[in-house]
Amino acid sequence: MERKDFLAALGLSAGSLVITSCLGACGKGDSATPTTGTPTTPTNGTKVDFTLNVSTNSDISTKGWTIMNSIIIAKNGSNYIALSSVCTHQGNPLTYNSGNNTFPCSLTDAAHGSVFDSNGTKTQGPATSNVKKYSTALTGTSLRVFEA
Ligand code: FES
Repeated sequence: MERKDFLAALGLSAGSLVITSCLGACGKGDSATPTTGTPTTPTNGTKVDFTLNVSTNSDISTKGWTIMNSIIIAKNGSNYIALSSVCTHQGNPLTYNSGNNTFPCSLTDAAHGSVFDSNGTKTQGPATSNVKKYSTALTGTSLRVFEA
């Protein structure tokens, strides 16, 4: 008896054998519902966007500036200025001088001394590049700091 005659006698076709063999290849661990992995927070392309309450922030009320999320936020009159707080020289934190509205690098190391203006532009080295400036929007006592 030839194969096709044998299969015909069993009532099977070649197609049903293919389906049967495919079903056999599927393990019990397979599921019709796809699983999802744990999402990771993208680091590239993520924009800064947070708010702080300026009326309850003790740094702002006592010294006029604070650092949050590596951003220095300074009150200048009724305006707020937000710059990256990381000095472009060697990464020391910036401070704020309300007397001349500038952002000197931390003065803990006498060999340093970079200063940035309210736009983040370097006005004094040794830093060779500017720091990033962020947008601010005040609604009541809630200050939003964000990248446009
Ligand atoms: S780290 Fe700011 S001047 Fe050196």
